Amino acid sequence: MQWWRDAVFYQIYVPSFTDSDGDGIGDLQGIRSRLGYLELLGVDALWLSPIYPSPMVDNGYDVTDHRGVDPAWGDLDAVDDLIADAHAHGIRVTVDLVSNHTSDQHPWFRAALASPTGSPERARYHFRPGQGADGTEPPNGWCSVFGGSAWTREPARDTGAREWYLHLFSPAQPDLNWTNLEVWADLDKTLRFWLDRGVDGFRIDAAHGMCKKLDDAGPAGAADDPRFDQDDVHDVHRMIRATLDHYPERVAIGAVGVRSAARFARYVRPDELHLAVDTQLAASRFDADEVRAAIEDCLASVGSVGAAASWLLSDHDLSRPASRYGAGPVGQARARAMALVQLALPGAAYIYNGDELGLPDAALPGDARRDAVWHHGEESRDGCRVPQPWEPDLPAYGFTTGEPWLPIPVEYAALSVAAQLEDTGSTLSLYRRALELRRLHPGFTQPPAPGPPLEWFGAPPGCLAFRRTGTTLVCALNTSPEPVPLPPGDALLVSGPLDELMLPPDTAVWLT
Ligand code: BGC
Repeated sequence: MQWWRDAVFYQIYVPSFTDSDGDGIGDLQGIRSRLGYLELLGVDALWLSPIYPSPMVDNGYDVTDHRGVDPAWGDLDAVDDLIADAHAHGIRVTVDLVSNHTSDQHPWFRAALASPTGSPERARYHFRPGQGADGTEPPNGWCSVFGGSAWTREPARDTGAREWYLHLFSPAQPDLNWTNLEVWADLDKTLRFWLDRGVDGFRIDAAHGMCKKLDDAGPAGAADDPRFDQDDVHDVHRMIRATLDHYPERVAIGAVGVRSAARFARYVRPDELHLAVDTQLAASRFDADEVRAAIEDCLASVGSVGAAASWLLSDHDLSRPASRYGAGPVGQARARAMALVQLALPGAAYIYNGDELGLPDAALPGDARRDAVWHHGEESRDGCRVPQPWEPDLPAYGFTTGEPWLPIPVEYAALSVAAQLEDTGSTLSLYRRALELRRLHPGFTQPPAPGPPLEWFGAPPGCLAFRRTGTTLVCALNTSPEPVPLPPGDALLVSGPLDELMLPPDTAVWLT
């Protein structure tokens, strides 16, 4: 059964979901205590941000042991308990896998720094001599995704000349060398370790990274970026797939940021990953033409190799939809409308925790910010990572009995789970109803008809309308400033109030 093809994945940013022990940081036991909520919400699977031991320079995306659990989140028993309980609630569990890099505190990297130039310990990473007479210039001009050079010079040492190491992200995240077979063997061991424990799959971080054209010193960021999306990376994904194929019903999902739909499709060929997360929908403005183009591109791309699409509006790196699409009530209304578009599309969907509550980004004072590795002017990823509010009247809104690791704004009280649960007009109720219809309505449950999965209708300027092929389920979106006539049919679900037979601006509707 290819359950993932239309599954709803709920991304839990582990530090920010629920804290069970009062240290102010979310944990596995906290997630376990919320499984009743997740079942009520109606999600099919969880995607947990990295749970591995980490110095937390990048909140877990800097890993020191891929087969362990950081004490901040719990331990291996807590993982086993969470998987067992989630399965009892009918929810699968997938985990983030960071295979492009390790932490600079990983035993391998420490051994590399302590080993002679050219030794096997150093061959697991990318070390290069510097340029210039005394090697004080980086080996090439590559930039890190977080800003600044992608190279850091290692500390002075006794075992050889000082070299530079590559890190496409922060200096605390040295890139692994994927031409080294030990690196491959270790990933295989990691996959089996977690699969044997019962995880249902992996979200592979920076899945277009891993292999680099290091001898190409061309400018990073050019059309053919030598840092990313190199052909060799597909061999890694074939290995991942071959391992997963020994375990029934497990899924590999790539976080793939590539330059074209054709390149994207290559990650989900039949012997590679099962799904690749589309980033174009999240990158689109609230504009019907842009949204339609993103949908068409992704469907054409994955359709060309027979894979399912998978749609994401936000995650722990992006501004939340309720802020990104506009300020205040406009942003809220547009985020709700886009949720109905996303959830009507054929394929899998990812909901980032807190988006089902319509949370806006939190405005954090500079001294409260924790995302120290992101160096892009005033932007910060902390605003979308603020803890989930559960109860309006409890300290820290029920997230923790201690001091939350990021301050929770007072406006989150009115958006807390308890404040929205019984309110039929709330964003939480909208998500619950949409997920219920996905499970029950023939527009979603009918087996897909042959041919393109969507039929587009002509729509007024600034609007889009599509039907899921072979069904009566229609979704329409109005991004124009004026109300437009509703397409014919009975409204099943609306993101905001309808205006008689008109679809108001910033609104989407499901009709049958
Ligand atoms: C993750 C980021 C992380 C980066 C480096 C991205 O794919 O989503 O949160 O900082 O990889 O691991």
